[in-house]
Amino acid sequence: MHTLVEHPLLQHRLALLRSADTGTKLFRQLVREMTHFLAFEALRDLPTRPVVVRTPLGEAAGAKLAGHLVVAPILRAGLGMLDAMLEILPLATAGVIGIRRNEETAEPMPYYLNLPKAHPDSIVVLADPMLATGGSACDAIAALKANGFKRIVFLNLIACPDGLARIDREHPDVPVYTAAIDPVLDDRHYIVPGLGDAGDRLFGTL
Ligand code: PRP
Ligand code: URA
Repeated sequence: MHTLVEHPLLQHRLALLRSADTGTKLFRQLVREMTHFLAFEALRDLPTRPVVVRTPLGEAAGAKLAGHLVVAPILRAGLGMLDAMLEILPLATAGVIGIRRNEETAEPMPYYLNLPKAHPDSIVVLADPMLATGGSACDAIAALKANGFKRIVFLNLIACPDGLARIDREHPDVPVYTAAIDPVLDDRHYIVPGLGDAGDRLFGTL
């Protein structure tokens, strides 16, 4: 299941993000801001517990987040989304999932995994700006599940139909929130029109 988030404030930033004229500093800022918008949409149903707050003038009924929240970027490009997630989920713990694609085959090559311990009520917010063949995301989701995480939501900036279909096939229980669904992959498995190589644009390694 996927949701295309079409909020104008998000789509405005996506247009800037895609532009070949956007430099590293602005690129990083846009990734961060876009992650906030996606998270607001994706985390609407987070569990809360009722609380009573004393204001200077009385008592107000309120709600606080309940449950164990984990944010998990896929290295490298997902790192650009990490701080943004922690800004709105300050009590979340963080894990990292290192996966890179083989440049010829686009097969995912996992190289590092460091996750907090899963709790029965853990919710993982997995993040990667690009969903191309879906190999990296499916590998990351499989690693989370193998480590005991059951509830996972995936935040993504640009997807394509192949990647979305692969997640639906292999992990139909994982909802994907994305800002764009681009039509095709090129012969190097890059999303077209996409934005190029997200890791390189974020880390200035073009
Ligand atoms: C990119 C991107 C995703 C993956 C998407 O990472 O950030 O993780 O490719 O492609 P897929 O859906 O076909 O697996 P990359 O392997 O380039 O590594 P990097 O982030 O370290 O640059
Ligand atoms: N990874 C990227 O960074 N860009 C793509 O278009 C596909 C995979």
